[in-house]
Amino acid sequence: MQFRFYTKMASLLVPPESVRGMSHLDRNAFTTTVELPFLKFCGVKLSKIIPIVKKYLFKTRKFKPIQDIDKDIVIYLNPTLIKTFDDFVENEKKQLSGMYKEFGVHKVTLKYENWQPHDILRGVLPKEVEIPTSYSLVGHIVHLNLRDMHLPYKTVIGQIYLDAIPNARTVVNKTNSINTTFRNFTMEILAGDKDTITTIKENGCTYELDFSQVYWNPRLSTEHNNVALLMKPNDVLYDVFAGIGPFAIPAARKGVKVFANDLNPESYKWLQRNIVINKVKTNIKSFNMDGRDFLRNIVKADILNRRAANEVGMEHIIMNLPALAVEFLDVFFNSFNQDEIKQMCSRPPTVHLYCFVKGDKGEDACKLGQLLVEQKLGCTLDSDSMVKLHYVRNVSLHKNMVRVSFLLTENILEGKEPAMKKLKIENNFNVLVSNNITESNGEEQGNAKEAAEQKCFQNSKSS
Ligand SMILES: C[S@@+](CC[C@H](N)C(=O)[O-])C[C@H]1O[C@@H](n2cnc3c(N)ncnc32)[C@H](O)[C@@H]1O
Repeated sequence: MQFRFYTKMASLLVPPESVRGMSHLDRNAFTTTVELPFLKFCGVKLSKIIPIVKKYLFKTRKFKPIQDIDKDIVIYLNPTLIKTFDDFVENEKKQLSGMYKEFGVHKVTLKYENWQPHDILRGVLPKEVEIPTSYSLVGHIVHLNLRDMHLPYKTVIGQIYLDAIPNARTVVNKTNSINTTFRNFTMEILAGDKDTITTIKENGCTYELDFSQVYWNPRLSTEHNNVALLMKPNDVLYDVFAGIGPFAIPAARKGVKVFANDLNPESYKWLQRNIVINKVKTNIKSFNMDGRDFLRNIVKADILNRRAANEVGMEHIIMNLPALAVEFLDVFFNSFNQDEIKQMCSRPPTVHLYCFVKGDKGEDACKLGQLLVEQKLGCTLDSDSMVKLHYVRNVSLHKNMVRVSFLLTENILEGKEPAMKKLKIENNFNVLVSNNITESNGEEQGNAKEAAEQKCFQNSKSS
């Protein structure tokens, strides 16, 4: 899940200036005495007081703004809003006048655990350094994406996050964009247990994974569910870039027959583990091979066998490697003879291909996704072949992820229209769609080298 620290009120109160710039967390240094305005009541029902003072309460962590002290009710007020009794508006003053016993200021000790995480970070970091407020939670792991300006303070930032987030045991920082073949982050443990193996729940399924070795993105949860909803019990799913199984396992749970593949031996290992955990062994076959070989051999053979056996149900081919999946599309127009094309197209399988496109959100992004796929296929997706254009998510300011779902019709498999020959695409097309931009936890980084690197791993294993 993606979260953000925020502070409930812009406070006059801040941790002591002496904590500024600390590079190792000294919690004692946050202890300070502050002056808090209060209202004291005796023998008045809280239900009469609260409606008037609710919006002025001093709210901070592990501190009760309403306290019973010596048979009185003491209400601590936010000093940013109320300094003197006159700071209440007229009708509030009128209502309170008949009720309150005393208005005053108490010296109160605030400790490290009382400060909001945002205020602690604000206190520690130099004034010119932006506060890192956004983080993802993957099981017990807090995943940060710190910028260069934060790095001198990374240990203390990690510790503050560890203290602030319930159930967090480990805080990691991405040290690079996702630019490895297997789409996992290179990461550094900033605080907590040196344990990157975790368990997560998504859409009713349980997954175990080593976050330092495999791809996992909590922001794809809705998309994983959307795709599971497309599948029916007699269907077959071929998941070319399956990761640890978030498309494959929910589909198998619905009774879909699944062929799940991933090139990363670690993803393959955790995929197999998750198949066991989710008790879907009878419905999934898993493979550890290059996506191209998987499509050319396993997928092709199974679909042709299904045609020969006159099997019912639809076939779905999922290709979720958004930075590169389009580069695998040539497999479709290079791998089938005339007879095989006829058999395949008697009931064309559906491809669900993910890609990154630049530009604005929504329809425009989808259209660019379609153009990218058409460019790589070398033919237009007409009303016979186009199934759906779906906007998945905004990855960063001008980078979007879209799904292009289309049928493998005869003209695609025959490769009748060689790439780019028949398509009139605007001059700036290559600026708008890009298959070599990498995903880096929401930030965009160009990395053309990656495209070449992603194709070189040749290890295959199947079960
Ligand atoms: C973006 S992740 C998607 C994983 C999963 N489908 C999900 O939604 O979480 C892409 C996956 O493709 C795998 N991969 C990368 N190159 C591959 C290739 N040439 N063949 C097969 N899998 C590959 C990576 O290991 C990674 O697990």
